[in-house]
Amino acid sequence: MLPAQVRIVEVGPRDGLQNEKTEISTADKITLIDKLSATGLRSIEATAFVSPKWVPQMADASQVLAGITRRDGISYPVLVPNEQGYDRARAAGAEEVAVFTAASEAFNLKNTNAGIDESLRRFEPVLARAKADGVRVRGYVSTVLGCPYQGVVPIADVVRVARSLHDMGCYEVSLGDTIGVGTPAKARAMLKVVAEEVPMAALAIHFHDTYGQALANVLACLEEGVAVVDSAVSGAGGCPYAKGASGNVASEDVVYMLHGLGIRTGIDLDALAAVGRWLAVLLGRENGSKVGKALAAR
Ligand code: HMG
Ligand code: MG
Repeated sequence: MLPAQVRIVEVGPRDGLQNEKTEISTADKITLIDKLSATGLRSIEATAFVSPKWVPQMADASQVLAGITRRDGISYPVLVPNEQGYDRARAAGAEEVAVFTAASEAFNLKNTNAGIDESLRRFEPVLARAKADGVRVRGYVSTVLGCPYQGVVPIADVVRVARSLHDMGCYEVSLGDTIGVGTPAKARAMLKVVAEEVPMAALAIHFHDTYGQALANVLACLEEGVAVVDSAVSGAGGCPYAKGASGNVASEDVVYMLHGLGIRTGIDLDALAAVGRWLAVLLGRENGSKVGKALAAR
């Protein structure tokens, strides 16, 4: 059964920008987030407190978080890979953080220089401190439907990592098809098995659109009952440690589909699409999302 309401987690300012080769100014990043804050979104992932040597585009995380105008009722989670990231995030005023690991050992080594279990150990002090500080923690599992290095990823590995993150205290676990290789039946089957171990209400889905399957995958997972969808305005994105992976599913396209299905999001689609077109111009892409372009041509 489809959910009546879906929360979109807008990951454009982080997942959408982290892989851009040309430097985007701090002011533009702040403008993007402030524009997104005016569209009705309730969760906007703002930046990443990762190593600037690994991901130079996120080097200005502190300035970005300090520079945005926070609105009541909107959370602005930020990625943290370790305690050092947590320290930086808190110093910049973060009230929600997201930790990230993978279902594939090979991918996690490339992405964070740590195996899965080692990354979970790194999160323990982060979760403990977050709990004491009243900071909410989201968790990500990458490569849930395939890995660029290992290939097939057993669902049992996805379940194990998702359950660990949830048991550690992540209020929500986002299941990421990092390289966008999933297809609807596989996405649905994976979600169904994970939901036997982690409550569906604590799960989110996160699709990249490399093979044009993202929207179909979202629909399949909505039918399974998931009610939180990660997406990036304008379909921006890509992971620096997942060669060939393309953008996230576009937020405008997801919202158009959701509203067409009668599902509430609280988002003003025209306003969101306008932000998507603004970002496409900023990134030098004619191709914003399909919905963004179609709405502009009306
Ligand atoms: P490392 O090199 O093993 O770290 O990197 P280290 O602990 O050995 O430290 C080495 C240096 O990094 C030191 O500096 C530390 O201070 C510094 P030095 O002494 O050489 O000058 N350092 C840091 N600096 C700033 N902030 C920090 C930090 N930590 C250490 N937090 C590390 C390990 C995890 C830090 C690194 O591998 C890293 O930052 N990886 C992040 C990669 C990344 O951001 N990937 C993209 C996000 S994940 C994603 O896109 C998937 C997702 O969208 C879901 C999906 O699609 O599946 C979420
Ligand atoms: Mg991603």
